[in-house]
Amino acid sequence: MICKSFKDKERIRAAGRSAAAVLDRLCAMVEPGLSTWELDEAGGEIMKDMGIKSACKGYRSGYRVFPSYTCLSVNDEIVHGIGVKDRILKEGDVISVDVCIREDGFVGDNCRTVPVGEVSPEVARLLRVTEESLYVGLVRALHKNRVGDIGNAVQRHVEDEGFAIITNFVGHGVGRTLHEDPQIPNYGKPGAGALLRKGMAICVEPMVNTKSPRVRMAKDGWTALAEDQLPSAHFEHTMLVDEGTPEIVTLPPGHHHATKFLKAKLEQLSLPIELDG
Ligand code: MF3
Ligand code: CO
Repeated sequence: MICKSFKDKERIRAAGRSAAAVLDRLCAMVEPGLSTWELDEAGGEIMKDMGIKSACKGYRSGYRVFPSYTCLSVNDEIVHGIGVKDRILKEGDVISVDVCIREDGFVGDNCRTVPVGEVSPEVARLLRVTEESLYVGLVRALHKNRVGDIGNAVQRHVEDEGFAIITNFVGHGVGRTLHEDPQIPNYGKPGAGALLRKGMAICVEPMVNTKSPRVRMAKDGWTALAEDQLPSAHFEHTMLVDEGTPEIVTLPPGHHHATKFLKAKLEQLSLPIELDG
């Protein structure tokens, strides 16, 4: 959607802040021995306490209904993993925690892949490059740019580092529903594709495989897996397109100023990107 009023922007911001708060709490719980079912139940409880709803649970795709509060995808699971009792996290795993909530009629959606204990240097690099690619892409979510400007930046960063960008799944517009136009692919050509406009609410979400971009579906009908069974990573923010600098709305707890957060993040990741405005 394109937020025309300050009120709409405030509601997207509120939904984003809540989605980020849930994500933060769940990521802090990740440790060896925890099952993805327990983590998902905790997510459901936190949402209940906050008076918000999951935008995943009950989500329909054809005749299938998504059963979990959150999407929890371990190792070679790329996206849309379901919390299950016998999936126990162990040292060296990675888990993508994807939290998507509805508050006051608006959706906030964000994801982070976190290590379980200590991971190998190559897996740590996969997480880092995927997070970097999110920021390299989202800084291009500017008025009058096109979705190809975002996608091209993401893809180049990932491929320059020798990893594989997934093309089967894309980011999306967001608003009163989870998936709106335009699609935000993590690949593309500069200057190509749908036009971005000031006030547009979008989700930028690179999904990156270690080696092959090929995807296969699990038997549960939801979980997407890396065909080569190597680890996969996923980072996502909900954003508002703007003129000088785009606005991240899924700000983690303790952060209130979107541009300050973005600047600190670019510094933390040592990304040489100048923001204007
Ligand atoms: N962040 C995910 C997405 O944008 C949330 C999916 S909800 C599900 O696709 F129900 F489809 F899993
Ligand atoms: Co999303």
